[in-house]
Amino acid sequence: YIGRREAVHRGQPAQTRPALRKNGNMENPVTVLILAAGLGTRMKSKKAKMLHRAGGLPLVEQVVDTACTLAPPERIFVVTGFQAELVEQALAGRGVRFVHQTEQKGTGHAVAACRDLAGDRDGLVVVLYGDCPLLLPDTLKNLVDRQQASGAAATLISTRLEDPSGYGRIVRGPTGNLEAIVEQKAAGPGQLEIQEINTGIYCFQASLLWPHIDRVQASNPAGEYYLTDMVEILRGAGHEVCAIFQPDARELLGINTRIELAEADRILRERTVRRLMLEGVTIEKPETVTIDAQVRVGQDSVVEPFAQILGRTSIGQDCRIGACSILRDSELGDGVQVAPFTMIASSRLEREAQAGPFARLRMDSCIEAGAQVGNFVELKKTRLGAGSKSMHLAYLGDATLGKGVNVGAGTITCNYDGARKHPTKIGDGAFIGSNSTLVAPVEIGEGSYVGAGSVITEAVPADALALGRARQTIKPGWAKKRRESRD
Ligand code: UD1
Ligand code: CA
Repeated sequence: YIGRREAVHRGQPAQTRPALRKNGNMENPVTVLILAAGLGTRMKSKKAKMLHRAGGLPLVEQVVDTACTLAPPERIFVVTGFQAELVEQALAGRGVRFVHQTEQKGTGHAVAACRDLAGDRDGLVVVLYGDCPLLLPDTLKNLVDRQQASGAAATLISTRLEDPSGYGRIVRGPTGNLEAIVEQKAAGPGQLEIQEINTGIYCFQASLLWPHIDRVQASNPAGEYYLTDMVEILRGAGHEVCAIFQPDARELLGINTRIELAEADRILRERTVRRLMLEGVTIEKPETVTIDAQVRVGQDSVVEPFAQILGRTSIGQDCRIGACSILRDSELGDGVQVAPFTMIASSRLEREAQAGPFARLRMDSCIEAGAQVGNFVELKKTRLGAGSKSMHLAYLGDATLGKGVNVGAGTITCNYDGARKHPTKIGDGAFIGSNSTLVAPVEIGEGSYVGAGSVITEAVPADALALGRARQTIKPGWAKKRRESRD
């Protein structure tokens, strides 16, 4: 059986084939299918392989990012199956569409599952595997350009590996043309030695992919529908399939095991660090830092060894991130100084604020401009007003502090009564003496003083002095008498 469209294509010069038609300056519309339904058996994990992270993002999200350079999100279809809900959750907000593959019967079956939703257009269909996170946008663009220029039914990318085990092998004919791909499990004796492998990155002509995809059979030792069989199927129907050989295999690695995951993570992080350095960030001992893909850092900021900057953290210019500090999903203005061993999560430090060493900020805390927290100070859901200071050993939770407040060493907000959390409010310019205990809910007025060692349970009016401690008594000569009585 030859479909009507194919019958038309045959015998026509390549440039008039529908998929190659140029519409003014517009190129052929590209649809991207990302296959992400598999469990990933070789990861030995309870979690879908797609959700394992490399470079700070789930594998599948890395691939979506790359795909977005090629097609608008509404033309990107992600095939989900194993833990579909979690995979879809990880991509929520990206605007991509999902195709559910109820049973994972193989890559050919996964592509066929997309036909109803994605098979509505002529043009090109790029197929990517969600476990190939290192692929670069330029390589993908080149694949599409080559496919458009070639007039072939499909083009794929191959590479050479010292150890090709596990991959599909590229079988070339006497003239070097692509004849077939044989999977590891289906390979004959001589074929296992072939080092040229299929990377799993393809660009098909839509008008030839969709009418042929159902011809893929599960007649192989694994009983799977192999997308790779499309090479022989298309060739059998009289079409050409090209393989672009790319010598550098590093960006083409598929992640099957946690060893490969660690390698991909290293490569992605190296890319991030290089990008930041080229943008004007000093990174000391760059091989020791961990910086996630989406992190932004401004010019002339310095990142010290072993720092970790994670999630959606954004750092301004002229900042310093101290050695071994860990920042996650936080925002730092210009000129912020974070001393070593400081942890900052979901918090904000405004211009020229300082934190650490050994400080901990979490849950929407904010250090306003020029304010400082020093060693062993923890802030939870707390706002420290501009120019305020808490330099040593304090816990400030659910607290709002005004401007120019001084918090003495050892100050604790007692924000929890065993059942509920309560707020503490401290007005501008207040002075909290060392080792004070502020029992929330409580308010300390502007410009007031709290004597050192006080337990404050009632509101302190503005400009007052509050003392909440036992009065000191003096017994003159007591110690001397005691010593003498011992002799
Ligand atoms: C595949 C290729 C192989 C290639 C290698 C490159 C096939 C048959 N083989 O092998 O030629 O060298 O990638 O990395 O395509 N998936 C689904 N639904 C399924 C099965 C798989 O969505 O029913 C997804 C998986 O989640 C994965 C991707 O497809 O992201 C590839 O599947 P995988 O089992 O890893 O294929 P490989 O054995 O690596
Ligand atoms: Ca794979």
